[in-house]
Amino acid sequence: MRLRIRGTGSALPAHCVTNDELSRIMDTSDEWIVSRTGIHSRHISHGEATTDLCVQASRRALADAGMDAEELELIIAATVSPDDYLPNTGCAVQSAIGAVHAVAMELNAACAGFLFALNTVQAYIQAGIYRKALVIGGEVLSKMVDWEDRSTCVLFGDGAGAAVVEAAEEGYYFFCQGSDGRKGNVLSCRNRRVCNPFVSEEKALSEKEKQDYVRMDGREVFRFAVRTVPEAIREVLQRGERTVEEVDWFLLHQANERIISAVAKRLKVSEEKFPMNLDHCGNTSAASIPILLDEVNKKGLLKRGQTIVLSGFGAGLTWGAALLKW
Ligand code: UT7
Repeated sequence: MRLRIRGTGSALPAHCVTNDELSRIMDTSDEWIVSRTGIHSRHISHGEATTDLCVQASRRALADAGMDAEELELIIAATVSPDDYLPNTGCAVQSAIGAVHAVAMELNAACAGFLFALNTVQAYIQAGIYRKALVIGGEVLSKMVDWEDRSTCVLFGDGAGAAVVEAAEEGYYFFCQGSDGRKGNVLSCRNRRVCNPFVSEEKALSEKEKQDYVRMDGREVFRFAVRTVPEAIREVLQRGERTVEEVDWFLLHQANERIISAVAKRLKVSEEKFPMNLDHCGNTSAASIPILLDEVNKKGLLKRGQTIVLSGFGAGLTWGAALLKW
């Protein structure tokens, strides 16, 4: 048994912010952002919460799949920007869509989150535990970035994407994934630190320490991505006994156009096989792959029987790839 994607959906906040708008509130320019990243604009929440976007994307994916929410047995929501510590985003979505028979959870593997969630569902399906699942990637990163740090805030956007999957006899799904926690510091965002009535005053936290924002060593992440993504793709192709030429589409995490071009070059594959949407979405972390998947699906680019590679990478560090039959 293997996972087959039956339907996709996505949701973006209505408010779109261009590079020129950013250059009016900080020291940046359209020229710098486009030439370094390929990003022209991004959608930024005007109040939409992560769960709102995930619910919208999920409803659209269910409609696309022609599946009722009550049929779902499993929901995994990947996010680094949940609305609340409790309940988890999966349960919040479950409640909103009425997936009363599903078990629901949240998964954080940063920008590789959707891929790791999909791989987890594949493992459940292969083990014969669940047959029908909803996999979501959703983020409101605009509440986590430091709007005074031009080197990070211009990169990110908000949005959600979802895929409805089911167990199938036919087809294939192979994956590989990895993590290197030793490099956690190159892309981080602190949570609360221990601070309670039993902690000594010297240890009490300053306001700044209580709330921190996304911090990134961009060059280090860039180098990691360009080195690791082609390796992960080669590994998954080897596992699936397929060649790079047999792949119809490579759907990569949308962090930077230059990273995607470098990966295409290293694999010696035409960039035409690497659809992108970061020009109008920016980097939406766990949401980027499912939003892109939905866009290419709705454009009619994906044909049943085609071979698709997904690849994600990001904080953790985490990375991975999946090879599947559409
Ligand atoms: O989702 C996964 C996580 N993220 C990524 O994959 C991101 C990976 N990294 C990158 O995409 C790139 O490293 C960035 C786009 C983040 C940065 O590009 P870069 O070519 O590595 O630029 P840089 O950080 O080396 O900065 C070059 C210059 C600096 O000025 P000086 O020191 O050379 O005078 C920065 O201060 O550009 C300056 N700069 C900016 N200038 C205008 C940094 N941010 C901006 C900005 N506007 N927004």
